[in-house]
Order: sequence, then C-alpha cells, then structure tokens
Amino acid sequence: MELKTTTKAQVDALLDRMTLEEKVGQLSLVNCAGGHVPDWHREAISEGRIGALLNAVDVDTTNELQRIAVEESRLGIPLMIGRDVIHGFKTVFPIPLGQAASWNAEVVRTCARIAALEAASAGVNWTFAPMIDIGRDPRWGRIAETLGEDPYLMGILAAAMVRGFQGDDLTKPGNIAACAKHFAGYGASEGGRDYNTANIPENELRNVHLPPFKDALDAGVATFMSSFSDLNGIPASANELLLKQILRTEWGYEGFVVSDWASIPELSVHGLTANDKEAAYEAANAGLDMEMASSTYATHLSALVQEGRIALEQIDAMVANVLRAKVSLGLFEHPFTDPAAFPAIANPEYLEAAKYAASQSAVLLKNDHGTLPLSKDRLQSLAVIGPLADDPKEQLGTWIFDGDPHYSQTPLQAIRAFVGDAMEVRFARGMETTRSRSSDAFPEALAMARHSDAVVLFLGEEAILSGEAHCRADISLPGNQETLIEAIATLGKPVVLVVMAGRPLPLEAIVDHVDALLFTWHPGTMAGPAIAELLFGTHVPSGKLPVTFPRMSGQIPIYYAHKNTGRPPTPETVISIDDIQKGAPQLSVGNTSFHLDAGDTPLFPFGYGLSYSAFQYANIQTSASEITLGETLTISAELTNVGDYEAEEVAQLYVRDLVGNVTRPVKELKGFQKVRLKPGEKTTLTFHLHTDDLAFYNRRMERVTEPGHFHVWIGGSSEVDLRSEFSVVDVE
Ligand code: NOJ
Repeated sequence: MELKTTTKAQVDALLDRMTLEEKVGQLSLVNCAGGHVPDWHREAISEGRIGALLNAVDVDTTNELQRIAVEESRLGIPLMIGRDVIHGFKTVFPIPLGQAASWNAEVVRTCARIAALEAASAGVNWTFAPMIDIGRDPRWGRIAETLGEDPYLMGILAAAMVRGFQGDDLTKPGNIAACAKHFAGYGASEGGRDYNTANIPENELRNVHLPPFKDALDAGVATFMSSFSDLNGIPASANELLLKQILRTEWGYEGFVVSDWASIPELSVHGLTANDKEAAYEAANAGLDMEMASSTYATHLSALVQEGRIALEQIDAMVANVLRAKVSLGLFEHPFTDPAAFPAIANPEYLEAAKYAASQSAVLLKNDHGTLPLSKDRLQSLAVIGPLADDPKEQLGTWIFDGDPHYSQTPLQAIRAFVGDAMEVRFARGMETTRSRSSDAFPEALAMARHSDAVVLFLGEEAILSGEAHCRADISLPGNQETLIEAIATLGKPVVLVVMAGRPLPLEAIVDHVDALLFTWHPGTMAGPAIAELLFGTHVPSGKLPVTFPRMSGQIPIYYAHKNTGRPPTPETVISIDDIQKGAPQLSVGNTSFHLDAGDTPLFPFGYGLSYSAFQYANIQTSASEITLGETLTISAELTNVGDYEAEEVAQLYVRDLVGNVTRPVKELKGFQKVRLKPGEKTTLTFHLHTDDLAFYNRRMERVTEPGHFHVWIGGSSEVDLRSEFSVVDVE
C-alpha cells in the first residue's frame, strides 16, 4: 500500500525536529499500575520521554495525560493509550474461544465494535487484541484467549475482530488500533506451560501459525506484539526471521511492533543476552519498535547509537513506524475524548448483542431423548445446582480488567425470570468453588434434586483457572465435581449439565451420567438470559467446537488437521487396554498410532455441535473433476433441516491434498457457512475454491499449489463422510 504523502511529510517533519531522547521516548510504552499515574510519568510525558501508556482508563486521566503530551511537550506528539480489551470493556462478551465457537464473523466483529466504543469513551485508543496464537494445547491457560486450533477459522475471525475494533476509518472517534499478538508461536509453548519454549519447524510455522497473522495484516491491523516465548532457540522478541524477514520484507508491514510485557529484558533471562543493554540491542536489531513496561530502550538506545552500534537511521525507522500509527489514528487532530459523544456503557443494545453472542457461542454436545429444550408446561419444579449458576463474576471469564459484574445477569436469575410462576426453581450451590474437594454441601443439593422434576447443573471452571499463567496439567473437571455429577445421576432425574470453562474439558468420565450437555465457555455479562433461552428453546444452539475435545489430558495435543503418519490407526488396529489378552505377544496390539487407554479419537471433534433440530447433508458435487492452476472449483451439496425446529447449522468444507512435497494434513478447513433453515427446508450449499486456496509452504519455504489429487468433504463437523474428489493440473 502506498503511504499517504501527507503522512510521510508529517512524520518526516517531526523526525527532523526530534532529539534522540525524544525519539527514544516514542519507543517507550509505560505502565500506569492499577490506573495510577505517578508524577514522574507526567514529567516524562511533558519532556517527550514517553510516547505511549497502558492501563490508564479513567477519562479524566487519559485526557489530562494527552493534554500534557500535546500542550506541554516540545513537539506536541499525542500518546497511544493501550489496554487489554480482549472480549469486552464494561460489557463483557464470551471469551474469544467462545466467540470462535459461534463460527459467526459478524458476531465477532460486533463484540469488538462495542468493546472499542466503550473503551474509546474512556480515552483508550489501542487494544492488545486479537490474540491469534493457534491453540492446540488446552492445558495452556491462554487457549481461552485464542480463536481455536484452526488457521482458516482463526484468520476469518481475526480479520472480523480487527474490523470491529478499527472500523473502516481509524481516524473516526470510537475506532481504536488493534494489535495482532503474540507474534509468533506462543500457542505452541511446551507442555502447555505458559511462557515456555516453542519449537516449530519453519514449514509448520508458515503453514499453521502465521496465516492468521497475515489475515489480520490484510484486514489492516495497525500494530503487532511480539511473543514472550522462545521460538526455535531465538526468543520472538529478538527474532529477525519473524520481525524483519517475514513481517517487513515478505509481508510489507508498515505499522509498529510492540514487545510483550518486559520481553526485552527477559531476553537475558532466556539466556540470549547477558544484560539489558545487549537485550535492547538484539531486540532493536531484530525489528522490535516499542518496548512495553520495561525500560531497556529508554536506558540504553541512546548510548547504543552514540557508540555507533545502532544507526540513527534505524531509530528513525522505528520512530516513523510509531508516528505513522498515531497519524493514522487521527490523534494529532483529536487527542481528547468526550465521553458524552459515545453511547452509554452497557446500554440495552450492547447487552442484547452480548446475549446474542453468548447464545451463538454455546455448543450442544449431547442431548439424549430430547431432554432439551426444557418445557415450562411439562415441568413443575427445577433444581438449579452448582457454583457457577449464580456467580456474576465467574461467568465473565479471564482478562476482564474493566468488566463490571454489576451488569451481569446470572443463569439462576434468568431462569427464574424466564419461568416466572410457572415452575418452582430451587437453587443449591453444591460446592463452594469449582475446585472444592469437600462434599459437605452435597446432601442439600441431592435432596433438592430428588424433589424436583429435572436438574440443571452449572459446573466447569471458575475464571481464574484459565488465562495468562493459569495452566493445568490435568484438565479434567476440578475438585469434587465428578462425584457430585455421579451422585445426582443416581436419582434418575433428567440431568442437564451446563459447563462454563476457559478451555476444552475432557468430560468422558461424566458424559454418560448426564442426559444433555451444553458447553457455554465463559459467556460474559449476559450468560444468564442467553443460557435460559437456549435451555427453554426460545433459541436453538448453533455453536460448533473451534477446538478438539480430548477424552483425557494425556491425548494432548490432539487436533483434527493432523498428519496421516506412516501408520494411521484403523478400527481393526485400535485395541483397548482392557481387551489385551493375558500373555499376548508384544506385537499383536495394533502397530499403529494410538493410545491403548484412549484410542485414536477425541471425545468431540473440531467443528462438532448438535442442534435441537437435525440436519442432513447429501449429494456433494464438484463443478469439474479437474481444474487448472489459477482456476476456481465450485463444490455444492444439499442441506436439509430434517428436524422439528427452525435452526442454524454451520456447514463446513474440508480438503485433503493427497500427496505433497511436504506431508499435508488429513483434512483442512477451507470454508464454512452458517445457514438458517425451517423444518423441512432444503438448500443448496455452494463453496468456491480457487487453486490458490490450496497453496502451502513446501520444503523450500515457497508458497505453492501443487498439481495433484484432492479429496473434498462437506458436512457438519470435521468428522465428515460426504466426500468427492478432484484434480489440479498444471497450466499447459
Ligand atoms: C502480557 C500479555 O502476554 C499480553 O497479551 C498483554 O497484552 C500484556 N501483558 C499487557 O497487559
């Protein structure tokens, strides 16, 4: 994209007038701990030594700080004011992983739009989202912040989130800069331990981990954040391949890259550098423009320039990257915020959007004998049990610095409001927290369940069990929850389990004990009404899993787009540990790739999710059996709503490239559509696939579409069997 000449002239004119100290100031992002602004920040801003702040969210404060920057500092350069607005500001939407389960880009865009408006009304002009690290390890607490395991789905939703935050014109009030983070490989932290090492072959990095970042860039994302983590021996914050070669040279990125929190001095903790000065040198040389929270740039960059180790032109390029972002945000024209110019916080329209997002995000994983929806007419009493049924804070999930539980409507409140006098709703918490090991409160809960017509359990993980630095080695239901479910199940009542959690949970141990299972993630402010309306059938669940659910933690990593291996398991070769004959010869158990105690399949596959209705896919067709490189193939199939409810279905298109210069996944998502059909209604689904959509990085790191043979499927999850095939041939 050609840089606007006016922007360039403005930036060059500023650079001409700036001292080295002022330039370094533009590369410093300083924390206002707890929203508090110490006096030395004010002084430093007035002296041009701070170019950006994070965590100031009171509008009087943000306006005051901007005033100091534009009126008191020599050059009047306004501040970037950043905040982690991850899934809402005051109005909280489902956690990003939940939003991804909606498979609805418009939902994701709307959540970001409202978050931007609320945050902007406090003077925030920059959010540290979207987080687009591929999440294939649910032990990793930050999987909650990701948009799932799949590069294609994540890319579409990341672009939607960027559009939501930034709008179509960043200069307009209410539009805030987004930040694609954490570049790159953070999601592959070893063992799901946060901040850990990631070893990702370059080929896999380019095929799996980087595409969502490229999609965010193509959507116009204003900033990038480097990851804390070590990538193949070179921490991302000093990784030239990432920050220079790929981001700048190959992708032509013109915005700025901010470090993660103290990730520059942490280069020395990683063991890459000996001290802060060398860390600053390595990071700057690698292409990292702005330092978050720590001060190695502020302390050492000037000296590094004076010693001739870093060229002034390089500093100028870094500063120009930052200044361009400030110009594109329109901050020079309107640095101040008038909160009265914005819609009210948590207004009815925002709450309605939050309810819709929560509703779209819920995934129905089981529904035997039509247990759901519950009927107001058939049930006289309902036992609502569990520590997450009536907890305004826990339903908000991780990363909700500004989220206000006072706006929360809980499931218990909403169920009571929904049924009114038609049904008696009894509530027992059952456990103090989801982690409680005590069963002291079980008798009360069991008595309540025994005397009710049906039971709805609200279990899972409280918010603090996922998010940054909140990783778990065993991700099964914490505390004594399984025992509670088993005890309730013995009563013979219809049991509905509603799970709130920040990650996929291996629910195999209890799934047979419940009649219905609705997985709602942490749904946010409007969890209650959204869930109540789903439970009672005002709306029909339509979410699909954006991430694979393992049967047990030991299966991790388990994801649908895996490689075939040289010994793929078959139903004949997968043997259960319980079926091994005593004294059987060593080599009789399978000789293929699976676990004796878990088999080879997940509990619920990627893309899976039930409806109160039922959908049938048929008659897959391709527009040609062979296409030439550069052409587009059309694939169609019929989808019929064969159930009794008007409902939405997420139809998914998968492809397999059978032979490649490097081995290709057994399936890759290449398209999806969320369609609404009335009972009995049939539609023809049509997907278009250009040969470029089949491209991948080969062993020479070239992005190519190879001529060859492909399988293509259309269906309602990654476990699809409606298949066709086609070939791609070279241009004559
Ligand atoms: C550290 C986190 O890794 C990052 O995602 C976040 O934006 C910053 N802290 C700022 O809070």
